[in-house]
Amino acid sequence: MNTFFSVSDVENLNAIVNDALALKADPYSLSDLGKNKTLGLVFLNPSLRTRLSTQKAAMNLGMNVMVMNMDKDGWALETQDGVVMNGTTVEHIREAAAVMGEYCDILGLRSFPGLKDRDLDYSEDLFNKFIDYCGVPVVSLESATRHPLQSLTDLITITEHKQVAKPKVVLAWAPHIKALPQAVPNSFSEWMCKAQEEGLVDFTIAHPVGYDLCDDFTKGATIVNDLDAALAGADFVYVKNWSSYRDYGKVYPVIQNWMIDSAKLTKTNDAKVMHCLPVRRDLELAAEVLDGPNSLVVKEASNRVWAAQVVLKRMLEKLK
Ligand code: CP
Repeated sequence: MNTFFSVSDVENLNAIVNDALALKADPYSLSDLGKNKTLGLVFLNPSLRTRLSTQKAAMNLGMNVMVMNMDKDGWALETQDGVVMNGTTVEHIREAAAVMGEYCDILGLRSFPGLKDRDLDYSEDLFNKFIDYCGVPVVSLESATRHPLQSLTDLITITEHKQVAKPKVVLAWAPHIKALPQAVPNSFSEWMCKAQEEGLVDFTIAHPVGYDLCDDFTKGATIVNDLDAALAGADFVYVKNWSSYRDYGKVYPVIQNWMIDSAKLTKTNDAKVMHCLPVRRDLELAAEVLDGPNSLVVKEASNRVWAAQVVLKRMLEKLK
């Protein structure tokens, strides 16, 4: 594996989940694999889970890790070609990425979308340039349109906790006060659509009118605008807010109650509740659910280590 950016970078979902669960059962079995190899984690945006779980995964494999908070500690990056850099940007991504590639054997990059120019965000211009110029394998730590380490984690968590061979999984839009990217729901959807193709899940997306995700990520999913109908028989409910794709980055008022609480959970098949975190209590998801027996959110966050570790393992094996 040279790049981990989308579900297309994984041939067989069952195989990678089983590899991850084997690492969870024996975390230090490959503690020499990454000896004398360096992972660089580059953040253009904040992070708790991605930062710590990916560092821990790398350390479990014996790697050295360096973290660069570009948003706070780096030079302001220019990403466009052919501009005279006489404004606020100080360093071009061509040199910055190339230099980081000189110091590291594998790089991870987090860069959120601007949510202003849909074509620019969905072209993944910054991420693709980083890959082109750094010259080493790259792991997405969340890009403008996807969060693959989170989605692999989510599939691992569903596999661990499912009670039936093909559980009903519902991605449920949730309220928020801010305009959030579509990266997590896009990514969760593309992973669940592939899992559905492989016979692993039955996948439904529920969102209010106007919050359709980009079709490229939802092929094969059942899509409804009625939350209660979607929740009927659900084994897993994946809660997440996102802003509009069609009216890009906009937030429409939603009158109906879309927050999952105990009353809504009674409509499900005693569903387990997931969220990538961070979560705003009693806005996106009821505190009574987060604190109750159906919540998987902390176990899900814990599994971030094994998703990162299996991806780094595959990249290191390719470097050897
Ligand atoms: N879920 C997730 O990616 O968390 P962080 O933004 O804290 O890394």
